[in-house]
Amino acid sequence: MLASVYRRFGPPGVLRVEDVAPPEAQRGCCRVRVTACALNPKDVLVRSGRMRWLTGERFPRIPGYDLAGTLLTAAGDLPAGTPVFGMVDSHQGRACAQEVVIPVAQIAAAPEGLTAIDAASVPLAALTALQALRDHLRVRKGDRVLINGASGGVGTLAIQLAAILGAHVTGVCSGRNTDRVTALGADAVVDYTQTDVTTLTGFDAVFDVFGSLPWPSASAPLTRRGRYCTTIVRPAFLARGALARIGLHRAHFVHVRSRRADLDSIRELIERGHLRPVVDRVWPLTEARAAHAYLETRRARGKVVLSLP
Ligand SMILES: NC(=O)c1ccc[n+]([C@@H]2O[C@H](COP(=O)([O-])OP(=O)(O)OC[C@H]3O[C@@H](n4cnc5c(N)ncnc54)[C@H](OP(=O)(O)O)[C@@H]3O)[C@@H](O)[C@H]2O)c1
Repeated sequence: MLASVYRRFGPPGVLRVEDVAPPEAQRGCCRVRVTACALNPKDVLVRSGRMRWLTGERFPRIPGYDLAGTLLTAAGDLPAGTPVFGMVDSHQGRACAQEVVIPVAQIAAAPEGLTAIDAASVPLAALTALQALRDHLRVRKGDRVLINGASGGVGTLAIQLAAILGAHVTGVCSGRNTDRVTALGADAVVDYTQTDVTTLTGFDAVFDVFGSLPWPSASAPLTRRGRYCTTIVRPAFLARGALARIGLHRAHFVHVRSRRADLDSIRELIERGHLRPVVDRVWPLTEARAAHAYLETRRARGKVVLSLP
């Protein structure tokens, strides 16, 4: 099978397209013929070696966590041939390949009417946004929610999901993206190049998607009982995160998990027309280097996706 492969950590230039052996079958897993795979900042972190303390140094490696394709083997109640989407829940990736073996619990039927490109763009970003807003920030109808990093892969879905939960949503992005963030459903948009976000006030929840609003400066825009959630793990957060889980701290860290039930909820929102994928650019697998380099600019407006032959 063809796959995006690298044999040492480094810049996008370490990536090659190679013909490699398909993955072996595993208990509790299904086999998917992948037709599209989205990239995430985690792919960049792992490929560059910045997460080697977690991933180890085994090579060759195949990037990719987000995928859409067709089941080659049954997955629980889903028969072979079903179009699926999902997220590999590990630091090993392996979704940027024509075949992937993935736990049955980490895929779901793909939203009807969506292309594989759009479906692949959804899982990791939507699961992160859903789990942060619903589970950590417990966003309710009428809450005032601030989303920092509103125009990227996670932010474009977080804006929509916060609006679906009934919140009054303020998105933070640079001036070039304000119209896009408004079109996604934000009630207000703040250009961080013009306004110091820490001078804002009155928010019930702050979701720091981008990571430029660390606690405790992020507490300034919050009301006295307001909640905060970040995507970026910092050493001080390991202790705070543990306290937050038992309700003794209002600063949370979201660590996205791949769950069939959440993927099903996301599929329903898409099929009902409430949530729409936001794809910025698509490259063929052979141009994975260009896709990684673009994602590394931190200027993507939505998701970066690879199509597989
Ligand atoms: N913990 C987890 O489980 C988890 C899960 C998913 C993602 N993450 C992390 O979350 C972060 C965001 O992921 P992503 O996929 O959304 O990234 P992304 O798509 O690469 O984000 C790109 C966006 O960031 C915006 N941006 C750049 N500089 C900014 C700044 N100073 N302030 C606010 N926004 C800024 C850009 O908007 P402008 O061009 O308008 O500036 C661009 O639209 C990454 O660090 C990722 O590793 C963690």
